[in-house]
Amino acid sequence: KILILDFGSQYTQLIGRRVRELGVYCEIHPFDWTEAQIRNFSPRGIILSGGPRTVTADFTPRAPQVAFELGVPVLGICYGMQTMAAQLGGRVEPALKREFGYAQVKIRGHSRLLEGIEDHTTPDGEALLDVWMSHGDRVVEVPPGFKVICLTEDAPIAGMADEARRFYGLQFHPEVTHTRQGQRILGRFVHDICGCEPVWTPENIIEESVRNIRRQVGKDKVLLALSGGVDSSVVAALMHKAIGDQLTCVFVDTGLLRLHEGDQVMATLARHMGVKVIRVNAAERYFDALKGVTDPEEKRRIIGHLFIEIFEEEAKKLEDVKWLAQGTIYPDVIESAAARTAKASLIKSHHNVAGLPETMRLKLIEPLRELFKDEVRKIGLELGLPYEMVYRHPFPGPGLGVRILGEVKPEYAEILRLADDIFISELRKHELYDQVSQAFAVFLPIKSVGVMGDERSYDYVIALRAVETTDFMTARWAQLPYEFLDTVSRRIINEVKGISRVVYDVSGKPPATIEWE
Ligand code: XMP
Repeated sequence: KILILDFGSQYTQLIGRRVRELGVYCEIHPFDWTEAQIRNFSPRGIILSGGPRTVTADFTPRAPQVAFELGVPVLGICYGMQTMAAQLGGRVEPALKREFGYAQVKIRGHSRLLEGIEDHTTPDGEALLDVWMSHGDRVVEVPPGFKVICLTEDAPIAGMADEARRFYGLQFHPEVTHTRQGQRILGRFVHDICGCEPVWTPENIIEESVRNIRRQVGKDKVLLALSGGVDSSVVAALMHKAIGDQLTCVFVDTGLLRLHEGDQVMATLARHMGVKVIRVNAAERYFDALKGVTDPEEKRRIIGHLFIEIFEEEAKKLEDVKWLAQGTIYPDVIESAAARTAKASLIKSHHNVAGLPETMRLKLIEPLRELFKDEVRKIGLELGLPYEMVYRHPFPGPGLGVRILGEVKPEYAEILRLADDIFISELRKHELYDQVSQAFAVFLPIKSVGVMGDERSYDYVIALRAVETTDFMTARWAQLPYEFLDTVSRRIINEVKGISRVVYDVSGKPPATIEWE
């Protein structure tokens, strides 16, 4: 396994995902992990991430010395290379020019890391790589034992290697896809140089998780709040494979779900896979609780609380449940660790903390805690969940409750469900669904005038929203084809009673958010 020490780069998670994609297990930990923790982890190799700070100032992060003393290969990326250079006796200076974006690096000499990897060859036989750079400082002198392995115009030392100790540094970012050969370079490091076998596959992940779950819970009973989203569905399938009927899921139909969503969850997990699922039809309770409430945060609070209330009621009916399973995934774990130590300069706020009360006195089991989202999806498929479920766009916890602006009423939810379903099924039909990151309809409780046939209509408005994003922190509105929007708009106005107008949202995030509330 590989240890990634995090210096706070926005790309650190990406390094982790890339290494996992290479079939090698890795974990991300803060750069000041203790010597004992690192030795205990016993990595086959270490990657030092990039970071926003500068090694030319005092009191900025340094790699733990033990990283260079374990006798395992070390790869420093960007800040990681700079701190490696500074700590091992080289020199780093602030660059006169910041390099940001595409660059071509020339490969120099022979290094195990870059041997035979190239994008172009110049007429004089020089190998070139197209890479992604993002740095202010640069290494101006390599430490003793190192040689330069690649360079650019602006960075005469864009990569360095000490083959004897198997220490490597790269100024560019192999983990981003803009570095075209990045995955090969990382593969060279983890497979060939560190000697890690590509055994971290969906089948193996499942097998190992099943073993761990069985060992952890023994004969105890486990409870899971099933939302129908990817993470909780995969937890359900995985736990069911491990412990069968010891698992009970509670699925609360809030009345704020998408069209047929509740039935689909039941059909897939309960009927098809045989998972024990208790479905609670709570739509009426939700609409009652939301009556007259218009403030978005207040709606969120009510929906959240009611969920906990209902879940507890159901849990009380069950006997001797000892465990609560949750679909926490690795990015949540890393982010909350980062938030605790405030090391990453980019911190996401969580909408998804389930907040199930401690009064339930259940032990927590989180079988996806070590997995990235793409791994969760892959094991979901492997466990037999349908592709559409596993690759579904994210859906907010409060559901349609925050997509019906202002007061939530059952008749609005009915209208919105139908309009949303038309939008989504047309996206699928036109093969646009997987090209956007999230798409949905929003119900606007304002009336506008129209003509339908010979009659004047006076009905509500639907807004369509589709965005492209990788991190959901920033997003662009999706430039869907006009003919496509035309089709959707016509269908919604013709088929959904109560709607006389459809608009398309062309706001980016920031300044707008993805959801309307
Ligand atoms: P915003 O609207 O903040 O959305 O740009 C970013 C992502 O978060 C989702 N979202 C939520 N998810 N509970 C959730 O579980 C919420 O209250 C919530 N609000 C927004 C949103 O769908 C998008 O994917």
